[in-house]
Amino acid sequence: MNILAVESSCDETAVAIVRDGREVLTDCIASQVDLHRLYGGVVPEIASRKHIEAISGLADQALSNTGLGRKDIDAVAVTYAPGLIGAVLVGVNFAKAAAFAMGKPLIPVHHIRGHIAANYLAYPDLEPPFLCLVVSGGHTMIVEVKDYTDMSILGTSLDDAAGECFDKVARVLGMPYPGGAALDKMAKLGDEQKYTLPRSKPGENPYNMSFSGLKTAALNLIHHAEQIGEELDIPSLCAGFSAAVSDTLVPRVVMALEQTGYRKVAVAGGVAANSRIRHDILEAAQKLGAQVYMPPLKLCGDNGAMIGAQAYYEYLAGNIADMSLNAYATKSILGEAL
Ligand code: KG4
Ligand code: ZN
Repeated sequence: MNILAVESSCDETAVAIVRDGREVLTDCIASQVDLHRLYGGVVPEIASRKHIEAISGLADQALSNTGLGRKDIDAVAVTYAPGLIGAVLVGVNFAKAAAFAMGKPLIPVHHIRGHIAANYLAYPDLEPPFLCLVVSGGHTMIVEVKDYTDMSILGTSLDDAAGECFDKVARVLGMPYPGGAALDKMAKLGDEQKYTLPRSKPGENPYNMSFSGLKTAALNLIHHAEQIGEELDIPSLCAGFSAAVSDTLVPRVVMALEQTGYRKVAVAGGVAANSRIRHDILEAAQKLGAQVYMPPLKLCGDNGAMIGAQAYYEYLAGNIADMSLNAYATKSILGEAL
Protein backbone atom coordinates (compact mmCIF):
# COMPACT_ATOMS: atom_id res chain seq x y z
CA MET A 1 0.00 0.00 0.00
CA ASN A 2 1.51 3.34 -1.11
CA ILE A 3 0.66 6.24 1.18
CA LEU A 4 1.29 9.85 0.20
CA ALA A 5 2.00 11.54 3.55
CA VAL A 6 1.90 15.25 4.31
CA GLU A 7 3.48 17.03 7.30
CA SER A 8 3.21 20.78 7.93
CA SER A 9 2.82 21.18 11.68
CA CYS A 10 5.73 23.55 12.30
CA ASP A 11 8.53 24.87 10.09
CA GLU A 12 9.14 22.00 7.67
CA THR A 13 6.82 21.27 4.75
CA ALA A 14 7.19 17.59 3.95
CA VAL A 15 5.63 15.11 1.55
CA ALA A 16 6.70 11.49 1.47
CA ILE A 17 5.54 8.27 -0.13
CA VAL A 18 5.81 5.24 2.15
CA ARG A 19 5.01 1.63 1.24
CA ASP A 20 3.31 -0.60 3.81
CA GLY A 21 4.43 1.56 6.71
CA ARG A 22 8.06 0.48 6.47
CA GLU A 23 9.64 1.43 3.16
CA VAL A 24 10.35 5.07 2.29
CA LEU A 25 10.02 5.53 -1.48
CA THR A 26 10.70 9.25 -1.26
CA ASP A 27 10.88 11.84 1.51
CA CYS A 28 10.74 15.45 0.26
CA ILE A 29 11.28 18.31 2.72
CA ALA A 30 11.29 22.07 2.30
CA SER A 31 12.72 23.59 5.44
CA GLN A 32 11.81 27.13 6.48
CA VAL A 33 14.40 27.26 9.23
CA ASP A 34 16.58 29.88 7.53
CA LEU A 35 13.62 32.27 7.32
CA HIS A 36 12.56 31.91 10.95
CA ARG A 37 16.18 32.21 12.09
CA LEU A 38 15.98 35.95 11.34
CA TYR A 39 13.42 36.23 14.16
CA GLY A 40 15.00 33.78 16.62
CA GLY A 41 12.02 31.42 16.47
CA VAL A 42 9.10 30.27 14.34
CA VAL A 43 6.77 33.06 13.16
CA PRO A 44 3.41 31.28 12.70
CA GLU A 45 2.05 33.47 9.89
CA ILE A 46 5.24 33.11 7.88
CA ALA A 47 5.17 29.35 8.46
CA SER A 48 1.60 29.05 7.12
CA ARG A 49 2.37 31.10 4.03
CA LYS A 50 5.52 29.16 3.21
CA HIS A 51 3.67 25.85 3.61
CA ILE A 52 1.09 27.05 1.08
CA GLU A 53 3.84 27.99 -1.37
CA ALA A 54 5.75 24.73 -1.02
CA ILE A 55 3.19 21.98 -0.59
CA SER A 56 1.89 21.34 -4.15
CA GLY A 57 5.37 21.43 -5.63
CA LEU A 58 6.60 18.94 -3.01
CA ALA A 59 3.78 16.53 -3.80
CA ASP A 60 4.64 16.73 -7.52
CA GLN A 61 8.29 16.18 -6.66
CA ALA A 62 7.42 13.13 -4.53
CA LEU A 63 5.52 11.58 -7.44
CA SER A 64 8.21 12.35 -9.99
CA ASN A 65 11.01 11.05 -7.68
CA THR A 66 9.30 7.68 -7.51
CA GLY A 67 7.95 7.54 -11.03
CA LEU A 68 4.54 6.82 -9.52
CA GLY A 69 1.34 8.28 -10.90
CA ARG A 70 -1.71 9.34 -8.92
CA LYS A 71 -3.33 5.98 -9.68
CA ASP A 72 -0.48 4.26 -7.78
CA ILE A 73 -1.27 6.15 -4.56
CA ASP A 74 -3.60 4.14 -2.31
CA ALA A 75 -4.25 6.71 0.43
CA VAL A 76 -3.36 10.22 1.56
CA ALA A 77 -2.18 10.79 5.14
CA VAL A 78 -1.70 14.03 7.00
CA THR A 79 -0.60 15.39 10.38
CA TYR A 80 -3.86 16.78 11.78
CA ALA A 81 -2.55 17.59 15.30
CA PRO A 82 -0.78 18.99 17.25
CA GLY A 83 1.11 22.00 15.93
CA LEU A 84 0.79 25.63 14.88
CA ILE A 85 -2.85 25.75 13.89
CA GLY A 86 -2.42 27.76 10.68
CA ALA A 87 0.45 25.51 9.62
CA VAL A 88 -1.41 22.25 10.33
CA LEU A 89 -4.46 23.58 8.47
CA VAL A 90 -2.44 23.97 5.26
CA GLY A 91 -1.47 20.30 5.29
CA VAL A 92 -4.96 19.13 6.27
CA ASN A 93 -6.63 21.13 3.50
CA PHE A 94 -4.11 19.99 0.92
CA ALA A 95 -4.50 16.35 1.95
CA LYS A 96 -8.31 16.60 1.92
CA ALA A 97 -8.24 18.06 -1.58
CA ALA A 98 -5.76 15.44 -2.81
CA ALA A 99 -7.70 12.53 -1.29
CA PHE A 100 -10.98 13.86 -2.68
CA ALA A 101 -9.56 14.48 -6.15
CA MET A 102 -7.96 11.02 -6.32
CA GLY A 103 -10.90 9.28 -4.68
CA LYS A 104 -8.60 7.75 -2.04
CA PRO A 105 -8.96 7.34 1.75
CA LEU A 106 -7.78 10.16 4.00
CA ILE A 107 -5.78 9.08 7.08
CA PRO A 108 -5.32 11.52 9.98
CA VAL A 109 -2.05 11.07 11.90
CA HIS A 110 -1.07 12.51 15.28
CA HIS A 111 2.34 14.15 14.88
CA ILE A 112 3.84 12.50 17.97
CA ARG A 113 2.61 9.07 16.91
CA GLY A 114 4.45 9.84 13.67
CA HIS A 115 7.68 10.59 15.56
CA ILE A 116 7.38 7.22 17.32
CA ALA A 117 6.75 5.51 13.98
CA ALA A 118 10.06 6.85 12.60
CA ASN A 119 11.46 3.86 14.48
CA TYR A 120 9.51 1.44 12.23
CA LEU A 121 11.32 2.90 9.24
CA ALA A 122 14.73 2.61 10.87
CA TYR A 123 14.09 -0.85 12.33
CA PRO A 124 11.98 -3.07 10.06
CA ASP A 125 11.74 -5.74 12.78
CA LEU A 126 10.51 -3.44 15.55
CA GLU A 127 6.97 -4.19 16.65
CA PRO A 128 5.01 -3.07 19.69
CA PRO A 129 4.89 -3.42 22.59
CA PHE A 130 7.80 -1.18 23.64
CA LEU A 131 8.54 1.95 25.63
CA CYS A 132 9.29 5.21 23.86
CA LEU A 133 10.97 8.33 25.14
CA VAL A 134 9.45 11.16 23.11
CA VAL A 135 11.54 14.32 23.17
CA SER A 136 10.66 17.03 20.67
CA GLY A 137 10.39 20.79 20.50
CA GLY A 138 6.91 20.72 22.02
CA HIS A 139 6.59 17.38 23.85
CA THR A 140 8.50 15.36 26.41
CA MET A 141 6.99 12.11 27.58
CA ILE A 142 7.51 8.44 28.27
CA VAL A 143 4.98 6.47 26.26
CA GLU A 144 4.00 2.84 26.55
CA VAL A 145 3.36 1.77 22.95
CA LYS A 146 1.11 -1.21 23.63
CA ASP A 147 0.19 -1.55 19.99
CA TYR A 148 0.60 0.57 16.85
CA THR A 149 -2.46 2.64 17.71
CA ASP A 150 -2.85 1.87 21.40
CA MET A 151 -0.67 3.89 23.76
CA SER A 152 -0.56 5.18 27.28
CA ILE A 153 1.51 7.95 28.82
CA LEU A 154 3.57 6.97 31.86
CA GLY A 155 4.92 10.45 32.48
CA THR A 156 5.23 13.83 30.86
CA SER A 157 6.86 17.20 31.37
CA LEU A 158 4.59 19.31 33.52
CA ASP A 159 5.92 22.52 31.98
CA ASP A 160 8.42 23.14 29.17
CA ALA A 161 9.44 20.51 26.65
CA ALA A 162 13.11 19.54 26.56
CA GLY A 163 13.54 20.96 23.04
CA GLU A 164 12.06 24.29 24.06
CA CYS A 165 14.67 24.56 26.82
CA PHE A 166 17.55 23.62 24.54
CA ASP A 167 16.42 26.29 22.08
CA LYS A 168 15.92 28.98 24.74
CA VAL A 169 19.30 28.47 26.41
CA ALA A 170 21.02 28.27 23.01
CA ARG A 171 19.34 31.50 21.94
CA VAL A 172 20.49 33.38 25.03
CA LEU A 173 24.00 32.07 24.36
CA GLY A 174 23.76 33.65 20.89
CA MET A 175 23.33 30.46 18.85
CA PRO A 176 21.07 30.58 15.79
CA TYR A 177 17.54 29.06 15.91
CA PRO A 178 16.90 26.19 16.45
CA GLY A 179 19.84 26.00 18.80
CA GLY A 180 19.51 22.44 20.14
CA ALA A 181 21.95 20.88 17.68
CA ALA A 182 24.50 23.73 18.06
CA LEU A 183 24.32 23.49 21.86
CA ASP A 184 24.84 19.73 21.60
CA LYS A 185 27.96 20.24 19.48
CA MET A 186 29.36 22.86 21.83
CA ALA A 187 28.72 20.61 24.85
CA LYS A 188 31.20 18.06 23.56
CA LEU A 189 34.04 20.55 24.19
CA GLY A 190 33.07 21.34 27.80
CA ASP A 191 33.43 20.06 31.35
CA GLU A 192 29.98 19.15 32.64
CA GLN A 193 31.08 19.37 36.29
CA LYS A 194 31.97 23.06 36.10
CA TYR A 195 28.46 24.44 36.56
CA THR A 196 25.90 22.70 38.74
CA LEU A 197 22.36 22.79 37.40
CA PRO A 198 19.23 21.38 39.05
CA ARG A 199 17.41 18.14 38.33
CA SER A 200 13.86 18.50 39.54
CA LYS A 201 11.37 15.86 40.69
CA PRO A 202 7.90 17.33 40.38
CA GLY A 203 4.68 15.95 41.79
CA GLU A 204 3.65 12.49 42.82
CA ASN A 205 4.05 10.61 39.57
CA PRO A 206 7.75 9.68 39.52
CA TYR A 207 7.70 9.55 35.72
CA ASN A 208 6.67 13.19 35.40
CA MET A 209 9.34 15.75 34.63
CA SER A 210 9.90 19.48 34.82
CA PHE A 211 12.34 21.57 32.80
CA SER A 212 11.37 25.15 33.55
CA GLY A 213 13.48 25.29 36.75
CA LEU A 214 16.50 24.00 34.86
CA LYS A 215 15.92 26.52 32.07
CA THR A 216 15.60 29.39 34.55
CA ALA A 217 18.71 28.29 36.45
CA ALA A 218 20.74 28.22 33.23
CA LEU A 219 19.42 31.63 32.12
CA ASN A 220 20.09 33.13 35.56
CA LEU A 221 23.64 31.83 35.49
CA ILE A 222 24.22 33.43 32.06
CA HIS A 223 22.65 36.77 33.04
CA HIS A 224 24.48 36.88 36.38
CA ALA A 225 27.83 36.31 34.66
CA GLU A 226 26.99 39.14 32.23
CA GLN A 227 26.08 41.49 35.10
CA ILE A 228 29.30 40.92 37.04
CA GLY A 229 31.43 40.90 33.89
CA GLU A 230 32.52 37.28 34.34
CA GLU A 231 33.45 35.35 31.23
CA LEU A 232 31.40 32.20 30.97
CA ASP A 233 32.87 28.90 29.90
CA ILE A 234 30.15 28.33 27.30
CA PRO A 235 31.10 24.76 26.29
CA SER A 236 31.03 23.73 29.96
CA LEU A 237 27.67 25.37 30.51
CA CYS A 238 26.34 23.52 27.45
CA ALA A 239 27.80 20.27 28.79
CA GLY A 240 26.28 20.83 32.25
CA PHE A 241 22.92 21.72 30.74
CA SER A 242 22.85 18.68 28.43
CA ALA A 243 23.82 16.45 31.37
CA ALA A 244 20.99 17.88 33.49
CA VAL A 245 18.43 17.26 30.70
CA SER A 246 19.69 13.74 30.19
CA ASP A 247 19.73 13.07 33.95
CA THR A 248 16.09 14.13 34.05
CA LEU A 249 15.08 11.82 31.21
CA VAL A 250 17.19 8.69 31.35
CA PRO A 251 16.68 7.54 34.98
CA ARG A 252 12.92 7.73 34.39
CA VAL A 253 13.26 5.57 31.31
CA VAL A 254 15.31 3.09 33.36
CA MET A 255 12.63 3.09 36.06
CA ALA A 256 9.96 2.51 33.41
CA LEU A 257 11.89 -0.43 31.96
CA GLU A 258 12.35 -1.92 35.42
CA GLN A 259 8.77 -1.46 36.54
CA THR A 260 7.02 -2.51 33.33
CA GLY A 261 9.38 -5.34 32.45
CA TYR A 262 9.68 -4.16 28.84
CA ARG A 263 12.99 -4.94 27.22
CA LYS A 264 12.62 -2.66 24.20
CA VAL A 265 12.97 1.12 24.36
CA ALA A 266 12.84 3.58 21.47
CA VAL A 267 13.55 7.30 21.31
CA ALA A 268 11.68 9.75 19.10
CA GLY A 269 11.48 13.45 18.23
CA GLY A 270 13.98 16.15 17.31
CA VAL A 271 15.79 16.04 20.66
CA ALA A 272 16.36 12.30 20.18
CA ALA A 273 19.23 13.50 17.96
CA ASN A 274 21.02 14.73 21.09
CA SER A 275 24.33 12.93 21.49
CA ARG A 276 24.34 13.00 25.28
CA ILE A 277 20.85 11.55 25.56
CA ARG A 278 21.63 8.89 22.94
CA HIS A 279 24.80 7.91 24.77
CA ASP A 280 23.19 7.77 28.21
CA ILE A 281 20.13 5.83 27.15
CA LEU A 282 22.21 3.29 25.28
CA GLU A 283 24.50 2.79 28.27
CA ALA A 284 21.64 2.55 30.78
CA ALA A 285 19.54 0.18 28.67
CA GLN A 286 22.48 -2.09 27.95
CA LYS A 287 23.03 -2.52 31.70
CA LEU A 288 19.45 -3.77 31.93
CA GLY A 289 19.80 -5.99 28.88
CA ALA A 290 17.23 -3.90 27.01
CA GLN A 291 17.31 -3.28 23.26
CA VAL A 292 17.51 0.40 22.24
CA TYR A 293 16.00 1.80 19.04
CA MET A 294 17.26 5.20 17.89
CA PRO A 295 16.29 6.52 14.46
CA PRO A 296 19.06 8.12 12.37
CA LEU A 297 19.23 11.89 12.86
CA LYS A 298 17.29 12.73 9.69
CA LEU A 299 14.32 10.69 10.93
CA CYS A 300 14.40 12.31 14.40
CA GLY A 301 13.35 15.77 13.19
CA ASP A 302 10.05 16.47 11.44
CA ASN A 303 9.58 14.61 8.16
CA GLY A 304 6.81 13.19 6.02
CA ALA A 305 8.02 9.59 6.05
CA MET A 306 7.23 9.12 9.74
CA ILE A 307 3.65 10.26 9.06
CA GLY A 308 3.39 7.75 6.21
CA ALA A 309 4.69 4.99 8.50
CA GLN A 310 2.16 5.60 11.26
CA ALA A 311 -0.61 6.17 8.70
CA TYR A 312 -0.35 2.58 7.51
CA TYR A 313 -1.15 1.29 10.99
CA GLU A 314 -3.89 3.87 11.53
CA TYR A 315 -5.43 2.66 8.26
CA LEU A 316 -5.26 -0.98 9.35
CA ALA A 317 -6.97 0.03 12.61
CA GLY A 318 -9.77 1.69 10.62
CA ASN A 319 -8.83 5.25 11.53
CA ILE A 320 -10.00 6.99 8.37
CA ALA A 321 -11.31 10.55 8.20
CA ASP A 322 -13.91 12.13 5.97
CA MET A 323 -13.94 15.60 4.43
CA SER A 324 -14.96 17.15 7.75
CA LEU A 325 -11.47 16.48 9.18
CA ASN A 326 -10.22 19.50 11.12
CA ALA A 327 -6.77 20.57 12.33
CA TYR A 328 -6.01 20.87 16.06
CA ALA A 329 -3.31 22.87 17.79
CA THR A 330 -3.34 20.48 20.75
CA LYS A 331 -4.55 16.91 21.03
CA SER A 332 -3.61 13.95 23.16
CA ILE A 333 -1.57 11.15 21.65
CA LEU A 334 -4.04 8.68 23.12
CA GLY A 335 -6.31 9.02 20.13
CA GLU A 336 -9.78 9.96 21.28
CA ALA A 337 -12.43 10.20 18.59
CA LEU A 338 -11.94 12.88 15.93
O1 KG4 B 1 10.55 16.96 16.72
P1 KG4 B 1 11.01 18.26 16.21
O2 KG4 B 1 11.72 18.29 14.87
O3 KG4 B 1 9.85 19.28 16.14
C1 KG4 B 1 8.77 19.22 17.02
O4 KG4 B 1 7.87 18.37 16.78
O5 KG4 B 1 8.80 20.00 17.98
O6 KG4 B 1 11.99 18.84 17.33
C2 KG4 B 1 12.67 20.03 17.16
C3 KG4 B 1 13.54 20.25 18.39
C4 KG4 B 1 14.13 21.65 18.43
O7 KG4 B 1 13.89 22.15 19.73
C5 KG4 B 1 15.62 21.40 18.20
O8 KG4 B 1 16.47 22.35 18.78
C6 KG4 B 1 15.79 20.06 18.85
O9 KG4 B 1 14.65 19.34 18.40
N1 KG4 B 1 17.03 19.38 18.48
C7 KG4 B 1 18.00 19.07 19.38
C8 KG4 B 1 19.04 18.45 18.64
N2 KG4 B 1 18.66 18.40 17.35
C9 KG4 B 1 17.42 18.97 17.25
N3 KG4 B 1 18.07 19.28 20.70
C10 KG4 B 1 19.17 18.85 21.35
N4 KG4 B 1 20.22 18.26 20.71
C11 KG4 B 1 20.19 18.04 19.38
N5 KG4 B 1 21.22 17.44 18.76
ZN1 ZN C 1 8.01 17.06 15.52
